[in-house]
Amino acid sequence: MKKTLITGGAGFIGSHLIDTLLTKENTITVLDNLTTGTPQNIQQWLGNPNLTFIKADLLNPVALKKLEPNHYDTIFHLAANPEVKIGATNPKIHFQQNITATHNLLETIRKTKNKPTLVFTSTSTVYGEPTKIPTPENYAPLKPISTYGASKLACEALISAYAHTYNFKAIIIRLANIVGPRSQHGVVHDFIQKLNKNPNKLEILGDGTQNKSYLYITDCINAILLTLQKSKEQVNIYNIGSEDQTTVTEIAKIITQEMGIKNVKFKFTGGVDGGRGWKGDVKNMLLDISKLKTHEWKPKYNSQQAITKTVKHLTNQPLASKMD
Ligand SMILES: NC(=O)c1ccc[n+]([C@@H]2O[C@H](COP(=O)([O-])OP(=O)(O)OC[C@H]3O[C@@H](n4cnc5c(N)ncnc54)[C@H](O)[C@@H]3O)[C@@H](O)[C@H]2O)c1
Repeated sequence: MKKTLITGGAGFIGSHLIDTLLTKENTITVLDNLTTGTPQNIQQWLGNPNLTFIKADLLNPVALKKLEPNHYDTIFHLAANPEVKIGATNPKIHFQQNITATHNLLETIRKTKNKPTLVFTSTSTVYGEPTKIPTPENYAPLKPISTYGASKLACEALISAYAHTYNFKAIIIRLANIVGPRSQHGVVHDFIQKLNKNPNKLEILGDGTQNKSYLYITDCINAILLTLQKSKEQVNIYNIGSEDQTTVTEIAKIITQEMGIKNVKFKFTGGVDGGRGWKGDVKNMLLDISKLKTHEWKPKYNSQQAITKTVKHLTNQPLASKMD
């Protein structure tokens, strides 16, 4: 049995990771403070002898001390504040929840005798506004334009340094926008919430031309697990995303169509800095996924298909095939 720790395991991506890993040879410990994650996300596994749930905060050193004596083969570190927008008004959140929390976890790993492999969920936003699209992993210089992107880049740097200094393997995955059931943030979730409240009008942050790549959750989980199998270096970096983009206006059209709502008035806020939804919103994002494709991976769904599947799930519409 492999021993796995998942921080943020009660969240969107973490709970899907559990769905896949618990059916394999794994015992899983989940550490989550349930700020955005919920027990419902992992309800089907509570009571499973191979799953241990610890409600704890990565900012609490006492909770982390309890993890120290344990040996884990792999730690998936997903716990974070994933909301890019918040940084425009409250940058401290990303500093604490992302950088300090990651540093606390790294200190725990440093003090652990048998070192695990650490898998860290980073983000496309570390690239800032790259001049090269699709953007490869070796693109430089990295100049994030949001505190979220900056905090994740700081985490990447700390992880690289700790992995080299204290001799463990690290895998840094830079995710595009991930969508699917249980997602509680991002544009798809936001639009559905707004339309449920008022089906006549949809407020769209920015000018609607923001053009980004979206990946369905099952594709994301398969890719994450593949990086774990294939990573050979001490510090490994992979982009994970789909191969196309879609605009925010297109997303609004897909969602209204899928929800069967007609004659919705789209109200564009116009946004800031040339149509961005908020300060720090990257307008054009597409990751180069050639590196992962050399391992025979490719996404099953493109951006629009991923969004359509997600809307069907989040609005509880019947689906021929629910998860794949
Ligand atoms: N969803 C995406 O599109 C996306 C894109 C790029 C990167 N990521 C990254 O992937 C990871 C998972 O994102 P998600 O979409 O599942 O978000 P999520 O909010 O659903 O999951 C984060 C989980 O971490 C927990 N958590 C937060 N702070 C914690 C703390 N201090 N201690 C313990 N637990 C804590 C939350 O309760 C939640 O369960 C995050 O690191 C996020 O930055 C997500």
